[in-house]
Amino acid sequence: MRAQIGVIGMAVMGQNLALNIEGKGFPVAVYNRTAERTREFAEGRAKGRRIISTYTLEEFVDALARPRRILIMVKAGAPVDAMLEGLFPLLERGDLVMDGGNSHYADTERRLGEAEERGLLYLGVGISGGEYGALCGPSIMAGGHREGYELVREVFERIAAPGPEGPCCGYFGPGSAGHYVKMVHNGIEYAIMETIAEAYDLMKRGLGMSPDEMAGVFSDWNKRELGGYLFEITERILRYRDPGTGEPLVELILDTAKQKGTGKWSTQAALDLGTPAPTIAMAVFARIISAFKDERAAASGVLSGLDPALGVDRGEFIGRLFGAVYLSVIAAYAQGLRQLRDASAERGYGLELAEVARVWMAGCIIRSVLLVPIRKALLDEPDLPLLFLAEPFRSAWEEYHGDLRWVTCIAREHGIPTPAMDSALAFVDAYRTERLPANLIQAQRDFFGAHTYQRIDREGTFHTDWEAVA
Ligand code: 6PG
Repeated sequence: MRAQIGVIGMAVMGQNLALNIEGKGFPVAVYNRTAERTREFAEGRAKGRRIISTYTLEEFVDALARPRRILIMVKAGAPVDAMLEGLFPLLERGDLVMDGGNSHYADTERRLGEAEERGLLYLGVGISGGEYGALCGPSIMAGGHREGYELVREVFERIAAPGPEGPCCGYFGPGSAGHYVKMVHNGIEYAIMETIAEAYDLMKRGLGMSPDEMAGVFSDWNKRELGGYLFEITERILRYRDPGTGEPLVELILDTAKQKGTGKWSTQAALDLGTPAPTIAMAVFARIISAFKDERAAASGVLSGLDPALGVDRGEFIGRLFGAVYLSVIAAYAQGLRQLRDASAERGYGLELAEVARVWMAGCIIRSVLLVPIRKALLDEPDLPLLFLAEPFRSAWEEYHGDLRWVTCIAREHGIPTPAMDSALAFVDAYRTERLPANLIQAQRDFFGAHTYQRIDREGTFHTDWEAVA
């Protein structure tokens, strides 16, 4: 028996994907850098399945039917390069190598070039859904050589999460298109998580609500227009009690958020492109500030604030908090999709944004009922500049921007930080303002640096000697 596909890297994601692929009828060969882990897998979860365990790269490569199809699931960065260095020389023209980790898109471009020089096919594949998704149906975002995608299309369509509009996998374009889409997916993930955390903070510190009470609110919201995986798990987290103490576990967790870098990359890439993604950026900075635990603890005794108790009617506040959260979540998708639109134009991905929305409908971390109208809006207008310009988002803005203003205003008055919500509001307010104060910035630039400016009443480029006496 030869395996139809090979998986390298037997950490949880690799193991679960191998089991998912085998379970859908494709024999799999597996390999891990340290043999011990492969052995454990072979004798444990892989036992009795059509999974060929191999202990050298040569053995692994020999176990695969041709053209070989290899999915690498190792930690992003140097480990991927180290693996490719060993693997590439063993392969033959037409073999396909796929990197299923969260690799930086620039690394993917470089590796794809190296593969191409050897006559190999290469795909950068973003896989979302965590451990459970890998085993039971992830969302798969592929980019690179199209012929390569055709070699694995059937496997991906079988293992991906079944969405309402077909299996949640897709080929998004050449080069690093797949990893770029996954990176922006993670940027949106950061922004939604931060928005939810801010709502939790307002309810907890501002209204004095218990975790169970807050769970009830998230449960209600999850049944509404913005319902989705991140709301669902938030409810479950809030209800979970620590078996040892009987306390809500969330309240026993240290308040410093870690990050592996994809939200940061998404923001860096937005800055490089010159596309506005402030809510995603604020979510990254919020995690960074949270990590300054000791400094925050020290500053809390030095810099005074205001009483966080909001002193408002709980029912009214929660009702309006929904609107604030809803618009902030739309802003996260709107910014991420705008970034993808601009990246596609600059990098030649040829992305179909409606197809991206379709692939995000199930399996991934940002799956949400919102993706149904998002996809529809993008099908109706593939080059839509910003989600808020299309229905139902335009009406959502009309209906809820008063709530977003009210909630963030109250948060400001009580010193509870809500950077994601604030930035979502400022973003849309700036976007819908015909005349911004950037004229003054141009004047300042021209004053100190002779950077010139344009006028609204005349064609041309102008410079003024601002200090000359008029
Ligand atoms: C997914 C997730 C996943 C990511 C984790 C952790 O789509 O399944 O985005 O790929 O690695 O969520 O990311 P951070 O450590 O950066 O929070």
